[in-house]
Amino acid sequence: MSNSSNSRRKFLKQTALGAAFLGAPLVVQAENTPANSLQTTLCKAYGFSVPIVSAGMAFVANADLAIAVSTSGGLGQMSGSGFPVDYLQSEIKRIKSALKGKPFAINFLPRFIQLEHIEVCISEQVPVVVFFWDEVPSQYLERLKANKIKVWIQVGSIQEAIQAKAAGADALIVQGIEAGGHNRSTASAFSLLPNIKKAVPNTPLILAGGIADGQGLAAALTMGAEAVSIGTRFIASSESNAHPEYKNRIVKAEVHDTVRHNIFGYDFPDATVRGIRNKIVAEFEGKDYPAPYANKNHETFPIIGQSAMGPIRRFSGVLPTPETTGDFEQMSLLAGESVGLIKDIQPVAEIINQMITEASNSLAK
Ligand SMILES: Cc1cc2nc3c(=O)[nH]c(=O)nc-3n(C[C@H](O)[C@H](O)[C@H](O)COP(=O)(O)O)c2cc1C
Repeated sequence: MSNSSNSRRKFLKQTALGAAFLGAPLVVQAENTPANSLQTTLCKAYGFSVPIVSAGMAFVANADLAIAVSTSGGLGQMSGSGFPVDYLQSEIKRIKSALKGKPFAINFLPRFIQLEHIEVCISEQVPVVVFFWDEVPSQYLERLKANKIKVWIQVGSIQEAIQAKAAGADALIVQGIEAGGHNRSTASAFSLLPNIKKAVPNTPLILAGGIADGQGLAAALTMGAEAVSIGTRFIASSESNAHPEYKNRIVKAEVHDTVRHNIFGYDFPDATVRGIRNKIVAEFEGKDYPAPYANKNHETFPIIGQSAMGPIRRFSGVLPTPETTGDFEQMSLLAGESVGLIKDIQPVAEIINQMITEASNSLAK
């Protein structure tokens, strides 16, 4: 073991023991504390202090969540998919003015944006743009890279990793089969990571899927991840844009209560997702190829709720946000297997501080 990792372990041990000796609860602030000893090369290169990225999550990862995560020392990510360009720009301006130079990321699913969304990121000098699911048009990549904006791509297989690297991604988010949301991963996060590491050496890798506590963070760092990307844990935060009932259902769910399926999405077809098993999921689980909405006119599907965007029909992929009303047993409630570890709705700063404390203690053992 190198001298620097020896002294890091020693430092962490001293910190944990010191707190125990004093009888004080070990509360680690996200900055200027042992958190900094978890700072990876990626964190340093991008200017954030703790190796925690909040995942891009359509509907729920809004500007407030991104601000809270970056303010707490991580890298906050706002989903910009489907936003009108003017609204995207005003939210980016709001994030920049709250963060005063701290980094953040904007997430896009390419099918829901146009070149104008990319141009706004360039004119606002967004530090990182993250893509997922669809092939990224080469024009987007060229424009971003010519303007020195970092590009990350989320992948779920060795093949996707090789393609994303060849397309010019600066870092990859490795999504495991446990992850909430859209998911076509080919293996669990901890199985994929070392294989992708071999396939695309010298590429910073961020691990996503099933991580909700400091032990998971420590494990990911130990296996060579430069950071973790966390979705489900942050849905159940005070700052996320999820409906309170959605948050409550995440808190109540156990590890076996999510399933990867192909049930929702006439508005985003044939995209497998992981979500909580409610009545509609239980009804179609194992009977979802072809998808239950396939080859049918979705306007004939019953309306099961109302959202800010209008009525929500059965099999829609729209997620419940605070203004949503309707039948939660019929809605898509995307979440990952980490639901089993989530016992409370907490403010982001508390979640991050807890994870850092736990990770520091785990690594110090
Ligand atoms: C509600 C929800 C919505 C998501 N939407 C997106 C998205 O729009 N773009 C994206 O890159 N990933 C999306 N994801 C996947 C996340 O980026 C990430 O892979 C996942 O949340 C990590 O697993 P975890 O939920 O177990 O932490 C979504 C995940 C969830 C739970």
